[in-house]
Amino acid sequence: MIARCTEKRGRVTIVVGMQYGSEGKGSITAYLSPVVSMGLRSGGANAGHTIYFRGKKFVMRQIPSVWINPNAQLIVGVGAIISPDILFKEIEEVNALLPIKHRLFIDPRAHVITPKQQIAEMRTGLAKRIGSTSATTGEGIGTATAEKILRKASCVQAKDVAELKPYLADTVMMANQCLDRDEVVLIEGTQGFGLSLDHGRFPFVTSRDTSATALAASVGISTHESWVDVIGVTRTHPIRVAGNSGDFDPDSLELTWSDVTKRAASPKPIIEHTSVTKKIRRVATFSMQGFLNACMVNRPTEIAVTFGDYLDWSAHEKEKVTHPIEKFLGLLESASGIRVTLLKTGPQTTIDFDAYRENIFRKIG
Ligand code: GTP
Ligand code: MG
Repeated sequence: MIARCTEKRGRVTIVVGMQYGSEGKGSITAYLSPVVSMGLRSGGANAGHTIYFRGKKFVMRQIPSVWINPNAQLIVGVGAIISPDILFKEIEEVNALLPIKHRLFIDPRAHVITPKQQIAEMRTGLAKRIGSTSATTGEGIGTATAEKILRKASCVQAKDVAELKPYLADTVMMANQCLDRDEVVLIEGTQGFGLSLDHGRFPFVTSRDTSATALAASVGISTHESWVDVIGVTRTHPIRVAGNSGDFDPDSLELTWSDVTKRAASPKPIIEHTSVTKKIRRVATFSMQGFLNACMVNRPTEIAVTFGDYLDWSAHEKEKVTHPIEKFLGLLESASGIRVTLLKTGPQTTIDFDAYRENIFRKIG
């Protein structure tokens, strides 16, 4: 039975990064997971999404972060580039805590990186040329994608790998049928809009388009406007990966981590390392230009602001919206005309800013 293409009824939530990655898309996805029937992810294992489950930290590189909802189906979509070792390790690790094997589905058309492609990528020196990690972790994602585009005989798809057989399913059909049942599906974007192959500053980009529309296309879902919510995840301080990873936006000033620490008035030094390769990230002041450009192309219906604590460390991991944070959120809303609905003040704290605002109004009223 095919999906009833004419009746568009369910809801699609696309979680997209508005800057250069590491905006905290994983944690926003995890926050939303209780209301989601299906989580979808595509792209490669170069993006690590940090989430917490029962106090334990996980960095998800291939499986959708929605797995923390035991009732949700998990999709590795048609546009995925799979690193098999990473995927199998992740399946075992997660399955030991919360069974996922029966609800994880991999599209037979997804591509699988071969050891030869991985070696070939190392030889290109790409990691050195454009900075390591989100742009290239040397997993072979760029090479596998290039060979896919060239339609080389050496390409391997999920349907060709015996160990993946138990998970194979037509995930595009599944997702669209899920929507026809009026359910909510969530597409977990990887990396950030600024790293898009098409929209970013070439060559300091990743190997695919990372815009909201492209994310939906890569899992076979239409961006029909009546059913899409786009959550634009935005850091107070954008980062880029270590090394020669490209400029920040022109209205943004590159900072040191000691600057960030002082500005936030944090008693402890603030510093960030990449989730996958553990190198020190580059950091900058917020770029309104970059943010508005990301709004224009991705059309977020709401904004999730992360790293509120970098504006005022007294709010760190607290359900507290202090004056500097409130001022920043107001600035984003007035410049873009888009509501901020979620705010993060630490890796494990997400504030429903809509509810917070309503409470304040009720108190004042
Ligand atoms: P990529 O696709 O790799 O860009 O993933 P991502 O957007 O899910 O982000 P990632 O997990 O790589 O990086 C975000 C990091 O910031 C993680 O270590 C989170 O635990 C942490 N984090 C998320 N939100 C906040 C926040 O509000 N404050 C602080 N201090 N850390 C946060
Ligand atoms: Mg990451």
